Amino acid sequence: MGVRFKGWGIAVPERVVTNDELSRTLDTSDEWIRERTGIRERRIGGSAGSLGTTAAAAAIADAGVALDSIDFLVLATTTPDRITPATSTTIAANLGLTCPTMDVNAACSGFMFALRTAQGLLETGNKRILVVGSENLSRWVDWDDRNMAVLLADGAGAAVLDYDETGTDVLSFVLGTDGTSADLLSCEHDGFFQMDGKEVFRRAVRVVVDSASEAMERAGVSAEDIALVVPHQANIRIIQAAAQRLGIDMERCVVVLDRYGNTSSSSIPLAFYDARENGRVHAGDYALLTGFGAGMTWASAVVKWS
Ligand code: ACO
Repeated sequence: MGVRFKGWGIAVPERVVTNDELSRTLDTSDEWIRERTGIRERRIGGSAGSLGTTAAAAAIADAGVALDSIDFLVLATTTPDRITPATSTTIAANLGLTCPTMDVNAACSGFMFALRTAQGLLETGNKRILVVGSENLSRWVDWDDRNMAVLLADGAGAAVLDYDETGTDVLSFVLGTDGTSADLLSCEHDGFFQMDGKEVFRRAVRVVVDSASEAMERAGVSAEDIALVVPHQANIRIIQAAAQRLGIDMERCVVVLDRYGNTSSSSIPLAFYDARENGRVHAGDYALLTGFGAGMTWASAVVKWS
């Protein structure tokens, strides 16, 4: 028994901010940002509620299901529109949903933590869950701070998950938190994102490799079996370093950070959606979904697309 992915949707703001545009107000350059991060441009605008609503509506349409068939809405966001009520209630109101809703904050691992939550909800009596990752990171960026301004962006992605008593798309899940690393990457109320980039980089590679290895072991697959890696989109060099250590070539890794930057909880569904649009997702294939974020948190899952 388990979980089936039924439909996906995304939303990104219209406004494109290129590296050259950032270079006009910051001591940085297109060349530095591309070489050190892989990012060429990002989308800025909207709110977690508005972007999440658009992505969720697209996922529901993609799944071809009725609104009133959704039993629960789980929103992953690091940047809720306000402290309370939860931004998931805004999305529910916009869509006309009256099912229970809640927000999950696990920073850039958020979509994976929300998926894990949905899996639990499906295995304990719910039939259909809407999982959304939505971020408005730009609101919490000091646009005079080149360390963060070149990295973070806005966007949303969503998936509809169904319960299936005959089988599951999700073969394994490995999640973790190291709360002693909180100071490496944080944002206080009324503050801005701050980060020790080098240390986050080092630890990110380590937790992705460890959790991905364990997730593959638990699923009974090896790196050669993985057709597609859908990684959190923070920095192309983190993806390259982790893929190399896992023995997975870059051709199998989905990369959308060049166009979208780091969209935290939204980056894994944005990457999955791009892969599917480009014909890279096939029934029967194994995929590795893996992410890390502030906390630190991390999460890896092996799925077999049905
Ligand atoms: N533009 C131009 N120059 C810069 C910039 C910039 N934006 N930032 C730093 N530099 C300079 C530095 O001052 C330094 O100059 P120096 O050699 O004269 O001293 C040089 O570039 C190298 O700086 P480093 O900090 O060593 O650069 P690094 O290669 O480590 O790249 C980066 C920095 C991109 C931040 C990298 O460390 C990184 O990607 N870290 C992980 C980020 C991440 O994954 N965050 C987690 C997710 S975010 C979330 O959870 C919300």
